[in-house]
Amino acid sequence: MDRWLRDGAFEGETHIVTGAAQGIGRCVARGLAAHGAQVTLVDVDPAKLEAVRDEIAGEGAPRPIVAAADVTDEDAVGRVVAETLEASGCINGVVNVAGITRDARITKKSYADFKAVMAVHLHGTFLFTREVAVQHWHPLFKANGNEPLDDGVNRFIVNFSSVSARNGNIGQFDYTAAKGAIESATKTTAREFAGYRVRVNAIAPGPVNTPMLAAVGEAGVAAMGRSTLVGRIAEPEEMAATVCAIADPKLFGYTTGQIFAANGGLYLD
Ligand SMILES: NC(=O)c1ccc[n+]([C@@H]2O[C@H](COP(=O)([O-])OP(=O)(O)OC[C@H]3O[C@@H](n4cnc5c(N)ncnc54)[C@H](O)[C@@H]3O)[C@@H](O)[C@H]2O)c1
Repeated sequence: MDRWLRDGAFEGETHIVTGAAQGIGRCVARGLAAHGAQVTLVDVDPAKLEAVRDEIAGEGAPRPIVAAADVTDEDAVGRVVAETLEASGCINGVVNVAGITRDARITKKSYADFKAVMAVHLHGTFLFTREVAVQHWHPLFKANGNEPLDDGVNRFIVNFSSVSARNGNIGQFDYTAAKGAIESATKTTAREFAGYRVRVNAIAPGPVNTPMLAAVGEAGVAAMGRSTLVGRIAEPEEMAATVCAIADPKLFGYTTGQIFAANGGLYLD
């Protein structure tokens, strides 16, 4: 399994990864687990989740918890957080990866599709952010007399935006709006969770080689690759390596409220 950090960087930690059944989420879960984390895998597809769990366990990492759940289902999100806490006693990190696209120009876009895209990206990110804080981090803060949690424990959230949040993209009114909102909400969460000593950042990828790009077609993908400065689209492992680096307090312990542009130079801020 790919390792990018020091061995055992996340030993003894528990992380929740949404959208873990395939694509970037699967690679993020493998990467965090490869560095020692017990990972809770969240997705709507139980069969694929079990395959990812077996893959990770077969690579010698801690055996992940499988949590088949829709990130837009408030009760289900509450249950995933509660079950993870019951199993491991703590949650150090959350990586909100789950996503969908329903691309269509504004004149052709249904309200149902608009709401579905907003819900998975923005509402799902909100629900996991709130639940982990309500069930775990805020109670720790209260028990500490409402004083900052300077206990040396690693705590983080990594959210997923996209280069198209800043660049715009035809057919993606909903997707770009949700990703722009996630970038703003990442900054608000960083401010609100500072006392919990939770570092909250987001990653904004350019095009990545996952099933999400399938709709674009081979020619479209090749054109996307050419429009980057590095001359190719990214592999999901490269996004996972970025997430692992942000999650590691030895590398990014002084960084919070930031948006990491991992876009091959497709868009320059
Ligand atoms: N692939 C790219 O080019 C690209 C570029 C920029 C940003 N992103 C972002 O990266 C993230 C991962 O994308 P990907 O390319 O791996 O996509 P993907 O389609 O390969 O995987 C997304 C996963 O999310 C899961 N999912 C969808 N709806 C869900 C729900 N309601 N509850 C739980 N799980 C749900 C899917 O089942 C799937 O396993 C997304 O947030 C996406 O917007 C991707």
